[in-house]
Amino acid sequence: MEELLTVKKLCKDGILKDISFDVKIREMVAIMGPSGSGKSTLLYQVSGMDRADSGEVWIDGTEICALSEDERAKLRLSRMGFVFQQMNMLKNLNLLDNILLPASRLNRGKVPRKELESRARRLMGKMGIEALAQRRITEVSGGQLQRACICRSMINQPKILFADEPTGALNQSTAQEVMAEFTRLNQEGTTILMVTHDSKVAAKCGRILYLLDGRIQGEFSPTGAMGEKEREAAVSRWLAGMGW
Ligand SMILES: Nc1ncnc2c1ncn2[C@@H]1O[C@H](COP(=O)(O)OP(=O)(O)OP(=O)(O)O)[C@@H](O)[C@H]1O
Ligand SMILES: [Mg+2]
Repeated sequence: MEELLTVKKLCKDGILKDISFDVKIREMVAIMGPSGSGKSTLLYQVSGMDRADSGEVWIDGTEICALSEDERAKLRLSRMGFVFQQMNMLKNLNLLDNILLPASRLNRGKVPRKELESRARRLMGKMGIEALAQRRITEVSGGQLQRACICRSMINQPKILFADEPTGALNQSTAQEVMAEFTRLNQEGTTILMVTHDSKVAAKCGRILYLLDGRIQGEFSPTGAMGEKEREAAVSRWLAGMGW
């Protein structure tokens, strides 16, 4: 398999220390680790939202640390999707317009609004929130809002999706629904790198990286012909061994 993301010897502010790993096309990889271990910081560096002190980050053949702020912003819009809890939707726009926001930023009128809108509605339909297009973000549930965030992250058809605890604020059943959407997107070809505290969520990923004190301490692939429960148990055992 071909690498889509390659990280080499990444260091940041003493928080990230010599991090190296890669994510291959169509992989879904989880990052786990204790609070404060540097998971969110790592996502900011590898997605070009922040610039590392040293090291290299290659995304789809481009080394992003060497790019200007503007170039990185453009690359983020065109090739990456984000589901970050702190990146809130705009309160004065309805769900549809929130979802369309990254598309209008990228296109600047090149693609007709109608075409973008039908793309957005298609995504919303897949996520089961099409009927909520005109609702404001204060008029939908947490799970529905999170699904809208996933639609927004997918509107520019990114190569890779970064998610920081996408199920963190959700109850167990809603978390499962949202996770099912990630699994489906992954099966349809989107590469995904997500931070999670939930071992059941991680068990659905092809590979798990364990971050401790800014270093990758271990890696686990819960693959094979195991059923869901066995995968979850295997992940729990591995995590216990990592000191989780
Ligand atoms: N902007 C910042 N400036 C300075 N230190 C920061 C900044 N953001 C985070 N840190 C520190 O860097 C370390 C790693 O933080 P980070 O948010 O990456 O952890 P995390 O693994 O995502 O934790 P959590 O699971 O709680 O979200 C922490 O010690 C944190 O206090
Ligand atoms: Mg975090």
